[in-house]
Amino acid sequence: MKQLSLNLVIAAILSASAIAYAETAAITSPTDPTATHKAEMGANTASPPAMPGVPAAKDAKLADSKQEQAAAPLPPAPPITPEEFEHGKQIFFQRCAGCHGVLRKGATGKPLTPDITRAKGTEYLKVFINGGSPAGMPNWGTSGELTQAEVDLMARYIQQDVPQPPEWGMKEMKDSWKVVIKPEDRPTKQMNQYNISNIFSVTLRDAGQIALIDGDTKQIINIIKTGYAVHISRLSASGRYLFVIGRDARINLIDLWMEKPDTVAEIKIGLEARSVETSKYKGFEDKLAIAGSYWPPQYVIMKGDSLEPEQIVSTRGMTTGTQEYHPEPRVAAIVASHEHPEFIVNVKETGKVLLVNYEDVNNLTTTSIPAALFLHDGGWDSTHRYFMTAANKSDKVAVIDSKERKLTALIDVDKTPHPGRGANFVHPKFGPVWATSALGNEKITLIGTDPKGHKDNAWKVVETLKGQGGGSLFIKTHPKSSNLWVDTGLNPDEKLSQSVAVFDINNLEKGFDVLPIAQWADLGEGPKRVVQPEYNKAGDEVWLSVWNGKTQKSAIVIIDDKTRKLKQVIKDDRLITPTGKFNVYNTMNDIY
Ligand code: HEC
Repeated sequence: MKQLSLNLVIAAILSASAIAYAETAAITSPTDPTATHKAEMGANTASPPAMPGVPAAKDAKLADSKQEQAAAPLPPAPPITPEEFEHGKQIFFQRCAGCHGVLRKGATGKPLTPDITRAKGTEYLKVFINGGSPAGMPNWGTSGELTQAEVDLMARYIQQDVPQPPEWGMKEMKDSWKVVIKPEDRPTKQMNQYNISNIFSVTLRDAGQIALIDGDTKQIINIIKTGYAVHISRLSASGRYLFVIGRDARINLIDLWMEKPDTVAEIKIGLEARSVETSKYKGFEDKLAIAGSYWPPQYVIMKGDSLEPEQIVSTRGMTTGTQEYHPEPRVAAIVASHEHPEFIVNVKETGKVLLVNYEDVNNLTTTSIPAALFLHDGGWDSTHRYFMTAANKSDKVAVIDSKERKLTALIDVDKTPHPGRGANFVHPKFGPVWATSALGNEKITLIGTDPKGHKDNAWKVVETLKGQGGGSLFIKTHPKSSNLWVDTGLNPDEKLSQSVAVFDINNLEKGFDVLPIAQWADLGEGPKRVVQPEYNKAGDEVWLSVWNGKTQKSAIVIIDDKTRKLKQVIKDDRLITPTGKFNVYNTMNDIY
């Protein structure tokens, strides 16, 4: 029951974000992808069998079922008008694709290709879409998210051939690329008085903005329009440039040296994306940036000071293990190696980690490491040599040795690890560990990361702590702190989603204290989810977002890390739906 409602919360968040996503997509006029898409779809529905380049048709599974089809022919797709098809396509893209994939090949949700859906038939599908299932399919009808007519429409829509979303190549990228201030016209030294290394870049999720907040004075420096639902902020190696990527694949490059830091360049690298990173290896500082997209499945390497796209590389290819072709392997987390001039790219659906060597951008060389299916996010161990990455479908953590360029270990963990970048600390008994919390349960998993000093514990789960509950997105500590903070912002129980748990690293068996963060923020109505603990540069303050509805009051709550007492609440009408916060110094130096 709990599990079901948790999934509902997650689904509600996914769909809420998708709606606003569609709104922003609709106003990105000249290169509006939905416009092209619509035109295409109209044509496609007019003559359904002539669907060009639908990869599903070439897929092995479908070929199998075609053979079965000879014995028991699949029923034809039920009738659908072009208008209905269009509506269904939009609902699918906004509410279903996040779990089932843009091409309906399945991800967190099952595959919904026509060979499968037609065999099940409209009635079965309607029941499923209407009522959901405890295994994580939301109850779209009974929850009122979709009308009965829309449930019926979706049951028919997913039996039609899969429409191919448009590609996004060099031309589309160049068309969307804007240099607001050319590199040669920018300041040659810092033009403001801010302590730049303690600035926080705060995602204002549903507003499609970030807030730059001065970590010393707690004042808002600027609110900058960005892509929708900014996923992450990253810093260039020098700390001067801030890169922000929205889920709609728009990147803003922000110059922190300007009198009032603001966007100096932007680009849209696809239709949906999650990751951006910059070159950090000696000699390449600030030179290059990379961004990976969910659709189209590819990554692009850009100039670091202008975002000019240089090389686009597709990630379509063969999966790890069964080695089948996958048309939609999405790019998840990317980190910059400190050991070689390389970007480390997680490719979700093929389960591969790519080490992309950028020494010569025109002649890229790539080491491809098969890890485990559905690689998601991850971060460095404390030495910045080992990249710890969660494979959330396989419930494994893969360890990549960035120095030797190989897979060091695959570690079994509990259901759906969601580390963000994880948290590193020295365990009193087991030595250096990296920790992750989970979406699917209350456990916090500690993995030994010191093959030299603590050989017996290395790459093993040395301990699991019991946290407040499932629905955790982030976990955080700091080298100067002995506290470990664990949020539970997506838990269906308000008590949990509105508070944070904090452990004493030197006394873990004592369990956790609960701080009622949302209550301290005193905001009135709303869901008030408490998410993403983040440290200041000094490591003596923890900032938490109190993420409320778009029309409700949100806040950032600052806790004194030593005393665990409330230090300050930042309230401002401009702080709409704050979620992730990225401290310049900690982000730039991979401190977590
Ligand atoms: C939060 C993730 C999530 C979202 C969003 C989601 N689904 Fe699902 N869906 C699932 C999961 C997980 C399953 C498998 C459930 C099971 O096996 O019981 C599933 C199963 C299904 C099935 C049954 C497939 C089968 O073979 O039995 C259908 C049909 C379906 N989803 C349609 C949709 C539609 C239509 C939407 C959008 C309106 C949607 N789903 C959105 C997660 C999701």
